[in-house]
Amino acid sequence: MTDEIKKRSLFQDGLDNNEMTNAEIINKRRVINGYDDGLMQISPLKHPWAYEIFELMIKNTWVPGEVPLQQDVNMWNDPKALSDNERRVYSRSLAFVSNLDGLQTNNLACNIIRHLTSPEVILSVTRQTYEEALHVQSYATLVEALALDPEEIYGLYRKDQGLYEKNKSVLKAVSKISDMSFETGTFKTDQMFLEACIGNVILEGIYFYSAFMVFYVLRRNNKMPGSAEMIQFINRDEDLHCMLFTHITNTIRKEQPELWTEEFQAQVIQNFKEAVEMEYQWGASCINEGILGLTPDLLHEYLQFVADYRMAALGLPKQYNAKNPFPWVDEYTQGNMIEVNFFEGTVREYQSGSLEW
Ligand SMILES: [Fe+2]
Ligand SMILES: [Fe+2]
Repeated sequence: MTDEIKKRSLFQDGLDNNEMTNAEIINKRRVINGYDDGLMQISPLKHPWAYEIFELMIKNTWVPGEVPLQQDVNMWNDPKALSDNERRVYSRSLAFVSNLDGLQTNNLACNIIRHLTSPEVILSVTRQTYEEALHVQSYATLVEALALDPEEIYGLYRKDQGLYEKNKSVLKAVSKISDMSFETGTFKTDQMFLEACIGNVILEGIYFYSAFMVFYVLRRNNKMPGSAEMIQFINRDEDLHCMLFTHITNTIRKEQPELWTEEFQAQVIQNFKEAVEMEYQWGASCINEGILGLTPDLLHEYLQFVADYRMAALGLPKQYNAKNPFPWVDEYTQGNMIEVNFFEGTVREYQSGSLEW
């Protein structure tokens, strides 16, 4: 079935042989392996959720240069404002998230977009790619504002075994489909692509979270508030990215149910469990015995709670039944797992409609 409709272009058929109506073209649309004319005609929509997420992304438009950082600069330059451990944890967390967003920008641009055949899904993943680039810029803004040594941030993965290993495993997860000869359209490669989409849910929805917690814990103790605000904006974007890839996964599953075998589900659950452990190991290596109430045990529980939530959204059984040990974090994450509009108040001014450019 998939071979028959895979990436056929109207331009391959010749004008005379083309009797498909617009409705027929749209009905043949799939997230992958669909009928793709390459012309991005998004009205009417086959996958309205993708366009809704695209619109939400635009509403969330913000730029790093507008986040006030003067208090952070003052604190960073005041030897008494932060302990050595807090500075170390801050730098390591910044190093990791900057690596992760850099990697994700390339992953979407090079590995994911080229296989999508739904124009509205392409639209939203393209916007996501831009947002990842914006996150790369955000970390550079922090590095410059605080006059951090770029070698200590961007170069850390070359010196730090833990960060090197973590980046290596994240890259390994996305590199399964990174070969330029990889194509969807067979049972095996479609399963590989689906696993890569779930890898995106893991990347967006789990890997960032120990670092995010560090910035929120500091903020809760009145330290580095501008950095935490920057992270809140990034976190809000990542939530939509996670939602987007959850929809992508669930829709491919609906369009090609044969891919969702018992064996595949077991593999996905295993991937989630490994991600939780890897994130925990990394987080624990950052905070050592703990920082401002954030201990390795609580971090572990929090990551398990987050993973359960992500798996449930993919229709998979919860593995941990963990409780959220940091219910206060919803204030900072706009309650991404609970419908609370935290950003009401702060973000409105960042929404494109009310911004003066
Ligand atoms: Fe990002
Ligand atoms: Fe993201």
